[in-house]
Amino acid sequence: MDRAIKTDLDGIKALAKKVAKSLKGGEIFALVGNLGAGKTSFVKALGKELKLKHKITSPTFTLMHNFEAKIPATKKKVFLYHLDLYRTKNFKEVKALGLTEIWGRPDTITIIEWADKIQKYLPAKATIIKFKNNV
Ligand SMILES: Nc1ncnc2c1ncn2[C@@H]1O[C@H](COP(=O)(O)OP(=O)(O)OP(=O)(O)O)[C@@H](O)[C@H]1O
Ligand SMILES: [Mg+2]
Repeated sequence: MDRAIKTDLDGIKALAKKVAKSLKGGEIFALVGNLGAGKTSFVKALGKELKLKHKITSPTFTLMHNFEAKIPATKKKVFLYHLDLYRTKNFKEVKALGLTEIWGRPDTITIIEWADKIQKYLPAKATIIKFKNNV
């Protein structure tokens, strides 16, 4: 998978399919884009690809949601962490969630909305996905 990907709303479903197929475990996806650009929609689409039973909503107030999932290619069990950092004030708050112990671990997939808020702390292996509004 490329280090940086761009998509608009129309490309979200296809991208979610591609990402789902590529998963091995340990991936970190940094979602960047304006309000309503499609970040949560992408996570929902990925959840669909992974056949998650749990309904995906934005973790706006709790900052982080955690689901169990199976990687389509290998059936390996992973924990999917979905974060929305829109309301985050600083990295300390994010660290307090335990994120730095979670991200990159082979049994986790981490997806971070508003990842630009912690851009300088993101691991080098993170894949940046840029969402562009169709306006
Ligand atoms: N339940 C829904 N029904 C119809 N359209 C929706 C629904 N939820 C979101 N949308 C639309 O889909 C688009 C993408 O929304 P989405 O929530 O994925 O954006 P986002 O990048 O996560 O935004 P935010 O920064 O607010 O979290 C927006 O145009 C939004 O209005
Ligand atoms: Mg969102």
